[in-house]
Amino acid sequence: MKIIVTGGTGYIGSHTVVELQQDGLEVVILDNLVNSNIEVLDGIEGITGIRPAFEKIDLTDRPATLDFFARHRDAKAVIHFAALKAVGESVAKPLEYYYNNLNALMNVLSGMRQYGVHNLVFSSSCTVYGQADVLPVTEQTPRHEAESPYGNTKVMSEDIIRDLMKVQSEMNSIALRYFNPIGAHPSALIGELPVGIPNNLIPYLTQTAAGIREQLSVFGDDYNTPDGSPLRDYIDVVDLAKAHVVAIHRLLEGRNKKNYEYFNIGTGHALSVLEIIQAFERATGVKVNYKIVGRRAGDIEKVWADTTFANNELGWSAKVPIEETLANAWRWQQRLGK
Ligand code: NAD
Ligand code: WQD
Repeated sequence: MKIIVTGGTGYIGSHTVVELQQDGLEVVILDNLVNSNIEVLDGIEGITGIRPAFEKIDLTDRPATLDFFARHRDAKAVIHFAALKAVGESVAKPLEYYYNNLNALMNVLSGMRQYGVHNLVFSSSCTVYGQADVLPVTEQTPRHEAESPYGNTKVMSEDIIRDLMKVQSEMNSIALRYFNPIGAHPSALIGELPVGIPNNLIPYLTQTAAGIREQLSVFGDDYNTPDGSPLRDYIDVVDLAKAHVVAIHRLLEGRNKKNYEYFNIGTGHALSVLEIIQAFERATGVKVNYKIVGRRAGDIEKVWADTTFANNELGWSAKVPIEETLANAWRWQQRLGK
């Protein structure tokens, strides 16, 4: 059974391709390689023994995207990861972010509708909740006005999918709202490949531990949290990848209750930045040179998921302990070297 994976050479996409192939599904990856590279296919093949089919296409190229769907109309589902995702960059380049993320989605939906590929799993984000008033957030928690153009593309994308599903009753979709994905495959054959200086905590931390960066800045210890540093729900990337396989089966087997559903995909537990540093040091035995500095503009204080709905409805839950996740991130960093 063939599954189309857009953005499949990216961080979360590549881990998901591994899980799909290990589940016996056939994968065709579509990516323009703007934020990933083709060697990722070697890693996927190294783990699974199968080299997925790959086509280099820019999803904002509508004719090329429709042509792709015409040639893959036998596919049963799409997992749409492809997007630009750097929050800060999206503030500086709003038009590029709206253009890329929204056109890519609309071209994918058009291709699916036109060629009868009826099932979609979409990468959404906890960013749609912003700073929620009540924690943990459930799927009923109201979405907040997005804090960045990137975040707004996720809110708008969810709305585009929701509205289309209202009139395309033959189509089905699930949006997965990821919390903070971290870690790497335990084989260390695939992982996150940050471009330039990392913005996210874990790649910055592992690069500091590896001596690439001098010091990790901890952005604020004066928040209203137990140790003063912000709280997040850090989800292992392999656990996250497995949630996609479960979502695909729910759609393929017609177990979805509505033709547009959305789920929180997190661990259900909050960890602070300082707790992450301590867990990393425990897991690896490597000390992290860090310094507490001022807050980062735009950061929220705390967010973590209520995962009851995903646990009960999908029969999925996060399994990998945080120390293991951080040890995998470190193994991947060591493989990348300096
Ligand atoms: P990534 O940058 O590693 O992967 C995205 C992939 O999409 C890249 O390989 C890139 O080359 C490709 N791409 C981008 N624009 C494209 C286009 N126009 N045509 C074809 N390919 C294109 O990012 P990731 O971390 O794997 O994220 C995957 C998805 O999950 C994204 O939609 C992202 O917004 C979402 N998400 C990520 C996080 C996170 O923290 N990593 C959290 C929540 C949601
Ligand atoms: C985590 C914590 C920082 C770097 C982002 C997006 C969100 C979603 C996930 C896509 C925060 C602190 C970080 C550093 C630090 N992505 N930190 N020093 O901001 O929670 O979420 O990724 O949808 O939309 O906004 O992730 O990894 O950047 O930060 O102290 O050098 O680590 O302040 O508390 P964030 P992050």
